Amino acid sequence: MKRRSFLTLTGAAGVAGVAATVPGLAAAPAAASTARTAAAGSSSLRDLAARIGLHIGTAVIPFDLDNAPYAEILAEQFSAVTPGNEMKWGVVEPTQGQFDWSGADRLVSFAQAHGQLVRGHTLLWHNQLPTWLTDGVTNGSISNSQLADLLKQHIFTEVGRYRGKIWQWDVANEFFTDATSTNPSHLNQDDFWVSHLGPDIIPQAFRWAHQADPHALLFYNDYNIAGEDGSNSKSDAVFAWLKQMLAQGVPIHGVGDQGHLDTQFGFSGAKMQQDLERYAGLGLKVAITEADVRTFVDGPTTQVPTDSLAQFAQPFEFGQMLKAAMAVPDCLSFTVWGFGDADSWVPGFFTGEGYATIYDVSLQPKPAFFELQQDLALGASGAPRHKDH
Ligand code: XIL
Repeated sequence: MKRRSFLTLTGAAGVAGVAATVPGLAAAPAAASTARTAAAGSSSLRDLAARIGLHIGTAVIPFDLDNAPYAEILAEQFSAVTPGNEMKWGVVEPTQGQFDWSGADRLVSFAQAHGQLVRGHTLLWHNQLPTWLTDGVTNGSISNSQLADLLKQHIFTEVGRYRGKIWQWDVANEFFTDATSTNPSHLNQDDFWVSHLGPDIIPQAFRWAHQADPHALLFYNDYNIAGEDGSNSKSDAVFAWLKQMLAQGVPIHGVGDQGHLDTQFGFSGAKMQQDLERYAGLGLKVAITEADVRTFVDGPTTQVPTDSLAQFAQPFEFGQMLKAAMAVPDCLSFTVWGFGDADSWVPGFFTGEGYATIYDVSLQPKPAFFELQQDLALGASGAPRHKDH
């Protein structure tokens, strides 16, 4: 099988062979120049990936664009961007009727100036909602039917504002439960939106988003839905739901697996590929939307792994994810959730963990960066070309 041999080739020997034939592969990745040229022989992630029609993205904190080295790496290495927080409802409408689009606008302009596509994130999620909304629901001043109207207005306002400028929208985020040994994954009935408006609010959100921007690709996004969860129960539940939604004609065009890994848990790249292929078999596009690989570290500032084996596991798992994405022609993009450890959400959310991204706390490329670069270099000569979109 061609695909299998591609995957085995990506072992150390195959990679070393390719590295020798790709000009500049060993060179430092972040060129000093701000003007980006997609020269033949370029070894940036975005240029290597472009050869197989894949986009390499990152989450961005728009405020960091003031930091010149950060902006240079962003322009040089990535062909897609996602605002880490700046399109979430709590950020764009902190007070009812008063909007703050500054971060999102800034990132969209940067992307347009640097030939990058934008992933919008995210319209329907239980987290990072404005407190005026959640408080209003709790104290009864916002009824369920008003809540549905507010959501509709939110989607039309935000999707409408960026109409024609967003490539993929994460319309709905994290609606399925994590499986336990006794309870398989299922649509979470306790979710903020589902508990107030019922499960039909999810397909309704897709329909509104589609009306607001008929050309944007609309994604369902979640974590542990492509090979991360040992039982594959969550992937099974999401797959069954997507199939049902598509049968009802809901405008869902893609599924995003976040790809938040932790070296202390097992992970199967082969399973990730199978799950992505299974979604693609429904006629959907797929994407890895928030890749990072965390591990235990000495502290949140320095983020040096405490287990020396993690130095190998971290880049290895990044490579496993990218290879899975590269092997599936319907996979549009591979996005990392921030590219520098100093910016990562991990130390703030997972006690004692960090080292989750591909550049260190001083924005120097880590082994994981070179792993991705080498995998892409190899893929440029062996992986299937990704479908046009
Ligand atoms: C995270 C951001 O990176 C943090 O800055 C913020 O405090 C919390 O949210 N899954 C998602 C992302 O879909 O939106 C989350 O982003 C990480 C988990």
